[in-house]
Amino acid sequence: MSIGQSVPVLILKEGSTRSRGREAQHNNIMAARIIAESVKSSLGPKGMDKMLVDSLGDVTITSDGRTILDEIDVEHPAAKMMVEVAKTQDDEVGDGTTTSVIVAGELLSKAEELINKNVHPTVIIDGYRKAADRALEVLEKIAIPVDPTDKEALKKVAMTSMASKIVSENREQLADIVVDAVLYVARKVGEEYRVDLDDIMVEKKPGESVTGTKLIKGIVLDKEVVHSGMPKRVENAKIALLNCPLEVEKTEFDAKINIDSPEAMEAFLKEEENMLRSMAGKIAATGANVLICQKGIDDMVQHFLAREKILTVRRAKKSDMEKLAKATGGRIVTNLDDLKSEDLGYAALVEERKIGDDKMVFIEGCKDPHSVAILIRGGTERIVDEAERSVHDALCVVRDVVREPKILAGGGAPEIEVARELREYAESLPGREQLAVQIFAEAIEVVPVTLAENAGLDPIDILSELRATHEKGQTWAGVDVFEGKVNDMLKLEVYEPLAVKKQVIKSATEAATMILKIDDVIAAGKAKMPKTPPGGPGGYGGGFA
Ligand SMILES: Nc1ncnc2c1ncn2[C@@H]1O[C@H](COP(=O)(O)OP(=O)(O)O)[C@@H](O)[C@H]1O
Ligand SMILES: [Mg+2]
Repeated sequence: MSIGQSVPVLILKEGSTRSRGREAQHNNIMAARIIAESVKSSLGPKGMDKMLVDSLGDVTITSDGRTILDEIDVEHPAAKMMVEVAKTQDDEVGDGTTTSVIVAGELLSKAEELINKNVHPTVIIDGYRKAADRALEVLEKIAIPVDPTDKEALKKVAMTSMASKIVSENREQLADIVVDAVLYVARKVGEEYRVDLDDIMVEKKPGESVTGTKLIKGIVLDKEVVHSGMPKRVENAKIALLNCPLEVEKTEFDAKINIDSPEAMEAFLKEEENMLRSMAGKIAATGANVLICQKGIDDMVQHFLAREKILTVRRAKKSDMEKLAKATGGRIVTNLDDLKSEDLGYAALVEERKIGDDKMVFIEGCKDPHSVAILIRGGTERIVDEAERSVHDALCVVRDVVREPKILAGGGAPEIEVARELREYAESLPGREQLAVQIFAEAIEVVPVTLAENAGLDPIDILSELRATHEKGQTWAGVDVFEGKVNDMLKLEVYEPLAVKKQVIKSATEAATMILKIDDVIAAGKAKMPKTPPGGPGGYGGGFA
């Protein structure tokens, strides 16, 4: 008996499910497409917003691709891979999340058509890889170099990224703030600029309106001064940064002290008071006039600090302490006895200000000028949250351009151009790979098609007009969603970073090829029945018959 001929036996744990071959592929592709479908309608300035309700009933309103996918709970492994695409896109470049998911979904959907015509997935995968490489070359070729410190160009990039957001009305003002913030923290290294977005602190406080959003050249702490007797404004601040509680330590074991006379009681209390007083005294002795403490501070110590006229903040966040150390040039000290005047940081002004109903502490004119904060305001918590997400996207795209100073015009124009070049390129390839490159070209056109659909336009008419216009050499013809026609996106100043579009190609191709490569899904049994992803069927192998 030959082993090779025997019936394959696979022993799986009870409750495991397995699906193979075409069935597995079909299920995976279906699940991935459902995810892409779920974000499609939010693409572009005319896209719709989504209202997401989590298991606790908290509501988020957003059109941000990553946020949508973060909030929805998907169980299918292929659907999870699509969520990963959005994450990768966001982590790498900060924008283009919806686009990358839609393109990945379309690449899969077109691939399935070929698989159904008996083209092997490996051939499609090879073709897709070739097409992606070519697409990246095309994008590089048509990209327009800009000066990385050109405020006007950067502002347009920021404004494009916010065009599709709820805060789009305020995008001009927000864009100015974002561009200033990024240029403020940018450092020139050789010929290039480096930007660390961690240098930009983003704080939010509901109240007023989005127009109240401000750039602060320094740091903002969402804390108030601990004691009413303390100064609320200190110029030429010498700042002590402490990471230890200013309290009398409690003993670890229950200790018992026998006090047998009123004098002994008084002496005991006096001793405690002296210890607390000396804490304030030690800080004052270093010459500090501001204290930021990461831990708690005893009422008595607060009282003595107030007497010493030291503006004090307690329970500061660890991340804020680190920023403060960097910005003021101070050192975070963990043992009060080690605090010396050399450890103090410097800022021109520390001041408590009333923001809405709350108080916040502003630290301005720091030693290191490379630290800024954006204080986001907005009518309600939801607006503030969405404003924060939009500012995040805008900070990312401006950083992208400062780092790699090349832009493209959007509105689907680069996608049409890439598709056109890919169709030419396909001619040079052998039969089946040619097909794969051709469907890649069709898939990438999903971007202008979706923009048109979301603007209520006829996608077929728009697509054929776009193709024809590009044939005539108009590289930047795209979907003008406001006028409802084909228009020159460069003239409309819809600027996007080259880095974002390149990453879309990379993340979408990677996800699609990864999913296409799978032909066997073995899933361990779960305590509960596998759920179907939102919006339709597509559970684990064989989940929908
Ligand atoms: N004024 C505009 N006209 C047409 N398209 C635009 C305009 N502004 C932005 N876009 C396009 O919208 C798309 C981005 O939409 P968005 O909802 O931000 O999704 P993503 O999460 O992919 O960034 C890009 O293709 C961009 O070119
Ligand atoms: Mg965007």
